[in-house]
Amino acid sequence: MTKPQKPLPPLDYIPADITCAADYETLAQAFIRADILTYIAGGSGHDITLRSNAAAFQHWSIIPRLLRNLDAANTRTQLLGKTFQHPILFAPVAYQTLVHPQGEMATAYAAEATDSAMLASTLSSVTLEQIATRSHLDRWFQLYFQPNPDDTDALIKRAIAAGYQAIVVTMDAAVQAPSIRAIRAGFQRPDSIMAANLVQQQPQPTAQQASEQNDIFRRYQQHAPSLAALKKLIDESSLPVIIKGVLHPDDARQLKTLGAAAIIVSNHGGRTLDGAPASLAMLPSIRAAVGDDFPLLLDSGIRSGSDIFKAIALGADAVLIGRLQLYSLSVAGALGVAHMMKLLREELTLCMAMSGCATVADIKATVLHKTN
Ligand SMILES: Cc1cc2nc3c(=O)[nH]c(=O)nc-3n(C[C@H](O)[C@H](O)[C@H](O)COP(=O)(O)O)c2cc1C
Repeated sequence: MTKPQKPLPPLDYIPADITCAADYETLAQAFIRADILTYIAGGSGHDITLRSNAAAFQHWSIIPRLLRNLDAANTRTQLLGKTFQHPILFAPVAYQTLVHPQGEMATAYAAEATDSAMLASTLSSVTLEQIATRSHLDRWFQLYFQPNPDDTDALIKRAIAAGYQAIVVTMDAAVQAPSIRAIRAGFQRPDSIMAANLVQQQPQPTAQQASEQNDIFRRYQQHAPSLAALKKLIDESSLPVIIKGVLHPDDARQLKTLGAAAIIVSNHGGRTLDGAPASLAMLPSIRAAVGDDFPLLLDSGIRSGSDIFKAIALGADAVLIGRLQLYSLSVAGALGVAHMMKLLREELTLCMAMSGCATVADIKATVLHKTN
């Protein structure tokens, strides 16, 4: 399909030409404005990590198994002491009204309809309280530490009051390498789309502070939680604190010792340090560092049920889906997102059945073969 100048309006039905979850990525090209699509699809810098994420899944194949007992087979999984119907969560994704007028509200509907946990971003285009009205199942709040600690505390209090069940601190994006392709495409977030959770915050920097913001180290320090601040949050929070954006086994070990409830192995879908390794490539050593019983999730590069299967086999308890959420949202709103999630679950279930895994816990590295 040639890319139209003007994106198509979202559909209110599931298009006939969607045969797998990844088809939404292709179809979305007709439904998202070209510069916005470049911003979403791109990674940071030269997309090196973005490409590594996709390639990492291709290094593994799944070995079919025969004569296995699949009575009572299911996709349920345990996380933070709770039973989830399946191990696929919606990753925190900012500014979803860029691709659909209902944005995060539609995603929340889809999460509810598909028994999926949703992670609401600090940078959502609707407030965390609005999202909470639409999703009554598992809902976690993704926290970006704010330069002013009072603003961070206020966000946490709001998330607790709105009934979120965990705080997910994203640690890998205090500064971000710019996406060269998004800059070249001229992407600029429209003024009408804002981080709705942050509109109450105090006025932005003075001229003096603004000039200091050119200093990358200073900007990093402003947005990255210090060890003391993170420890305080973990020690004092009434909610479990999960850390997102971990790629080094030593960091994982330290975070576990600090009291993190779970870790998300992630390189932000290749959007932070360009040249960072694929999340999947680091997963086995991180699993070895934290031990068998510690909750580990993974994202970055997942486009199919077989990718999910491989991530679980290599040590993840569950996975998160980022861009596929936006692609399916752009095509058919809540219906599209729910359909995409249904397809992913079916694709995962097929892999389980054909490799003889009756439960998510049965999915082990022994059913994978390293191809190169
Ligand atoms: C457009 C876009 C916005 C994102 N916004 C956030 C965010 O606000 N907070 C966050 O922790 N991660 C954010 N992420 C990263 C995702 O949570 C996730 O780590 C990543 O998309 C997973 O890779 P995938 O897109 O290949 O599935 C964003 C990713 C994209 C593509």
